[in-house]
Amino acid sequence: MTNQTTTHGDAALLQVNGLVKEFEIKDAALRSRTLRAVDGVDFVVRKKETFAIVGESGSGKSTIGRVLLGLAEKSSGDILFDSKPLSIKDRSQFRHIRKRLQIVFQDPVAAFDPRISIGKSLMEFLELRDDLDLRKRRQRAEHLISEVGLVPEMINRLPSQMSGGQLQRLSIARALASEPELIFLDEPTSALDVSIRGQIVNLLLERQKQHSVSYLLVAHDLRVVAVMADQVAVMYLGQFVEVSEKDQLFSHPLHPYTRGLIEAAHLDDLGLGRETDTVKLSGELSEDDAKSMGCRLAPRCPFAESKCSKPQELVELKPGQFVRCWKALSIEGVPGHK
Ligand SMILES: Nc1ncnc2c1ncn2[C@@H]1O[C@H](COP(=O)(O)OP(=O)(O)O)[C@@H](O)[C@H]1O
Ligand code: SF4
Ligand SMILES: [Mg+2]
Repeated sequence: MTNQTTTHGDAALLQVNGLVKEFEIKDAALRSRTLRAVDGVDFVVRKKETFAIVGESGSGKSTIGRVLLGLAEKSSGDILFDSKPLSIKDRSQFRHIRKRLQIVFQDPVAAFDPRISIGKSLMEFLELRDDLDLRKRRQRAEHLISEVGLVPEMINRLPSQMSGGQLQRLSIARALASEPELIFLDEPTSALDVSIRGQIVNLLLERQKQHSVSYLLVAHDLRVVAVMADQVAVMYLGQFVEVSEKDQLFSHPLHPYTRGLIEAAHLDDLGLGRETDTVKLSGELSEDDAKSMGCRLAPRCPFAESKCSKPQELVELKPGQFVRCWKALSIEGVPGHK
């Protein structure tokens, strides 16, 4: 498959081509079947930038990250990290890569072993840095804790003695411990109170500047994406339906699904300068729609018509903006485009 969305220069840190991940699952009648959670996605994460993947729950976002981190094996496709193929079967390569690639999970409480002190948990990640002796590791752990706005004395506490917001700060400190080049952020704020989400977003942005790290951000909260992303892919039932620079995506969303998501997120106060009419999607995401030969959104799309039952390809409409919808591609035919 030609990787259309991966035009890049030397700045590419992670390149994903035609990634597929299938799971063998049992249906309600206990019959085995294959679920294609990720169905041929292509993207590039550039150095020091944030590539965000958005979409409703069940669209396959976390699965992409799990495959990248070696927590699940890909079914097919290529993953290049710093231009070299990434293979989880090559354990020595993977240990080396693990230093350079980290994760911040959605649920900060589940991300920490309740029996281990915060300091010990940080030190474990610092062990990936072979160049540091024990004393330096401890100093570095204290430094990382203060970098995320907490006091170094917290090093002796257990996770149960910390709040969710504090633990998410520590997850970020821990992810930064090995000085990675890429951090996978899987819904980093959605388990937190609305009141502290902004603080965590600011912290992530600051740390990115300071450490020149790239983020692969997965979220269904478009507010977080609007603030953090450089590029955005919109995912529906295993496939990207739109890929674009962030500003372009929010001011001029093209795919009916993107427009529906933006509408549902009520982002007017962010002043994103939207130029297209709103779209209301009907119903909910249903895994069964992924079996369709044609557009998977058709049962929910207000513009659906007979031509939508044909397969839809992801096509570059203008430089850097890709869309999977024949109607959006023929701009005149899409209601509400100005
Ligand atoms: N380990 C697994 N076994 C079987 N199905 C899975 C597994 N992990 C994810 N899935 C399925 O893959 C699809 C995508 O899931 P996921 O990647 O978690 O989506 P998202 O992160 O966008 O909510 C869902 O239908 C989910 O049920
Ligand atoms: S192809 Fe048809 S059903 Fe699919 S998003 Fe476009 S207009 Fe809607
Ligand atoms: Mg998820």
